[in-house]
Amino acid sequence: MNESRRQFNGTLLGSLLTYSLLETIFADDLLADEVRPLAAAWLADLDQLGRDLRGAPLEQTTWQDKVEELHSQVDLADLLTFLDFDKLTHNLQYRERGERSLRPQLPEVEGLPRELVFGQQIFALQKDRAVVPHGHYNLASSFLVLKGEFHGRHYDRLEDDRTSMIIRPTIDRQFGPGEYSTISEHRDNVHWFQATSETAFIYNMHVVNLQPDYGRPGGRVYIDPHGEKLSGGRIRAEKLRAAEALRRYG
Ligand SMILES: [Fe+2]
Repeated sequence: MNESRRQFNGTLLGSLLTYSLLETIFADDLLADEVRPLAAAWLADLDQLGRDLRGAPLEQTTWQDKVEELHSQVDLADLLTFLDFDKLTHNLQYRERGERSLRPQLPEVEGLPRELVFGQQIFALQKDRAVVPHGHYNLASSFLVLKGEFHGRHYDRLEDDRTSMIIRPTIDRQFGPGEYSTISEHRDNVHWFQATSETAFIYNMHVVNLQPDYGRPGGRVYIDPHGEKLSGGRIRAEKLRAAEALRRYG
């Protein structure tokens, strides 16, 4: 057994798809590539956590902890294969500012719901370009660095009004392949990732509409984190239109 399979057996990855079931699938030759089920099981667990989050039987910060635990166990090479990363990024046209969003088409695999509860995309960026600073409402999501390096920053969203958001820095560090972060209403709500290598890629999964009666969509709210400094490390960050956020930070 290789290391990743041992991990797979020993963790909550095993909760949905058992190794023996996967062995059967291999034996039946239903899957061309025997590494695929690791990613499938990983995605299926993310899917289950997303379902638990909706309607709130699972606390958002607990979801973050569990999603981060899952991310710590990901087999990156296997996930890249499952996402068909090489094909997806072939002849890629990067954007002059901000990120190019790519939509992976997952193969159909036993044990992985055909309709995932979460949305997913891959962000592709060239050096110095950024997923510009923004927060979300009624949404929880994760970033996983697939390739390259990023300077990643997060902020807690403490309060906000029509024109600004009060934030406090929480994370400010380099992120390399396999490293990850999460956001929710209650922790690290604002994120900002700038590519520091020639090219860089993030896998993003997001669960939207966590509370159906919340009354606002889960889209991005762009801000400028370089705002007025307040007491206790807080910052008054101006809300921005997308084009202006891209102009300043993309
Ligand atoms: Fe986001």
